[in-house]
This record gives sequence, C-alpha cells and structure tokens, in this order.
Amino acid sequence: MRTVRVSASKEYDVIIGRDAISVLGTEAKKVCPNATKALLVSETNVVPLYLDSVKNELAKAGVDVSCYVFEAGERSKNINEIAGMWNKMAEEGFTRTDVVVSLGGGVTTDMAGFAASTFLRGISVIHIPTSLLAMVDASVGGKTGIDIPMGKNQVGAFWQPSLVIEDTSMLKSLPDEVFTEGMAEVIKYAFIMDEPLYEVLKNANGDLSDESVLEDVITSCVEDKADVIKSDEKDNGRRQILNYGHTAGHVIERDSGFTKPHGICVAKGMGIFIDACVKAGTLADSEASKMLSLLKLYNLPAEDEITPEEIVAGAMNDKKKRGDILSVILSNKIGSAEIKKMTKEEFLEFLSL
Ligand code: GLY
Repeated sequence: MRTVRVSASKEYDVIIGRDAISVLGTEAKKVCPNATKALLVSETNVVPLYLDSVKNELAKAGVDVSCYVFEAGERSKNINEIAGMWNKMAEEGFTRTDVVVSLGGGVTTDMAGFAASTFLRGISVIHIPTSLLAMVDASVGGKTGIDIPMGKNQVGAFWQPSLVIEDTSMLKSLPDEVFTEGMAEVIKYAFIMDEPLYEVLKNANGDLSDESVLEDVITSCVEDKADVIKSDEKDNGRRQILNYGHTAGHVIERDSGFTKPHGICVAKGMGIFIDACVKAGTLADSEASKMLSLLKLYNLPAEDEITPEEIVAGAMNDKKKRGDILSVILSNKIGSAEIKKMTKEEFLEFLSL
C-alpha cells in the first residue's frame, strides 16, 4: 500500500493499493475522531458491489451510516440530488463533526464533496473512488460541483477531502471501456509533466493488468496532482495545466448531451491540441507521433469531427476563461506543457492553422 500526502488548505493522505478499503475504519477515526454519523453517497452501479464492506469499515470507526444512492450517470449531477443529500443529513440530525463518504466515480466524488462543502457551511468528506478516472483525478484536489444546462461543473466549491482511500482491487469490477476512459487522464499526466510515466506506459504496451504496475501508475498520477495543487490549489495558475485536452474535450462532451464519456472526450481534445501544437510550432512532429501512438496503444481516440469554431464558441463558457482571455495549454514535448493566454481570435487561429 502507498500513501501520498497532499498539502493544500488541508493536509490529507491518499492511500493507494489492493484492499486499501481495509484501513478505512482506522483512518477515518483518525481524521474525523468526533464523527458519530456518516452519509454514504453512492450510485446504483456501485452500491451493490461495495456497500457492505464500506459499512463494516465505518462501523469500526463508531459511526452510524445512512445512504444516499442516486441513478448512475452524469445526468444525475444536478442540484436536486444535492438537495436530497442536504435533506437526508438534516433529517438524520448531522452536526458539523459528522462526515460525508463518497463511494463511486467522478460524478459521485464531485457531488458528495459539494454537498459536504455546503452543509452546515462545510463538514468533512472522505472519498472512496472506484473508477480509475476518479482515483487519478476527481477525488484528489478538492474540486467539487454539479453541471447546469450551460456547462459541466459550472457550480461548485473547492473543498479538500480529509482522506482518500483508493482500493485498486475495486478497478477489477470496471467495464473495459470505463477503465480505458480513465487512461486518458493517466496519459494526460505523462504528456504535461511526467516523462518517466510516459516510459512506464509505453513499456507496459497497453496492458496494466499487473497490479503492482497499476499501483505505481496511479501513485505517480496522484503525486503529480499533489505537486500541482501544493502551489496552486485554487486554479489560478499552474493547476490549469491539468486542463490539458479538456478545453476541447468539455465542448465535445457537452455537445453530445453528455452521452460521450468524459475521458474519451479528453483524449479527443488532447489529439486535437497535439495536432494544433505541431502546426503552431510548439511541438516537434516526432514528439507528437509518440504522443498519438500512446493514445492509440491504450485504445483512445485522438480525433473528432468538431470544428475549430465550435470549440472556440464552447470554450467561451469555460471556467478557466478570465474576461475575454482563455488559458490554452500547449505541449512543448512529452512531460512538459505551458500555459498561453489567448484571445478568442488567437485561439481560433491556433486551432485553424
Ligand atoms: N481536474 C483538473 C483539476 O483538478 O484541476
């Protein structure tokens, strides 16, 4: 088992490994010593698989568990579900020392974190991510929120968890396509800041079934994210590099009515940016070929029929936009990216070269 310490406005451990769930009770007791109640937030696909083991662990921490289970999928990521969580906690008499525990993928960690950040002006949250994407991205760093019709994650709060438990054995129950989707976020770290991770992924040749390799890969991603967050928790600077591929990806995802999976859209967004960076002269052709090959090796797409005009129009709703200026993440080489400020017109020119 591996532990990564995250230092932000709150310090917390991310515990990664096979059967990591077995330490939930003892670790929860350490970080929430006065909790007597926990709201377990989960979704319909995950809850039948792990409810008993999570409940048993939380019982060891001496807390009574109530459950809030929502219909799996991005369409549930709305204010009505959050209100359901608030009401459940109020009905059960939760106080500020009690805790929310999320069990699921990124939709679950985002929503449970948002409910925790707002209930009684903020109570603790523990994340138990069950998807690769949530392990390497959504559960770490404190971004929480919901979607509104105008865009994904448009309403939310920064609210760091008190503990993250990443049980890699839970990944075995993931359908292949959901694991593949998570690989887009893994590959993102390799592209923007972690050349050694690129080598590991290339050498694994598209197969992460070796549990120790998978544990190493997830740990590298969490360490990378912790490193970024340490210097820019509130996303005003360096953290924006984590948005690599997302500017176009979010537009593709939204235009599909959220029917295309997030990770697939991010992979397409990265592919579009890799091509644009080559044409703009920030990335050598040889590096771009290696990056596109890695996406292919992990069965990820690197193209989409979306037009530059559509990307620019969609990006004007991006949270990263400040006034009329967008932060565009450019690749320089594998393991290195830069943030370039662009006007709408400059961004369109960059994508249209
Ligand atoms: N998902 C990108 C971030 O946490 O900043």
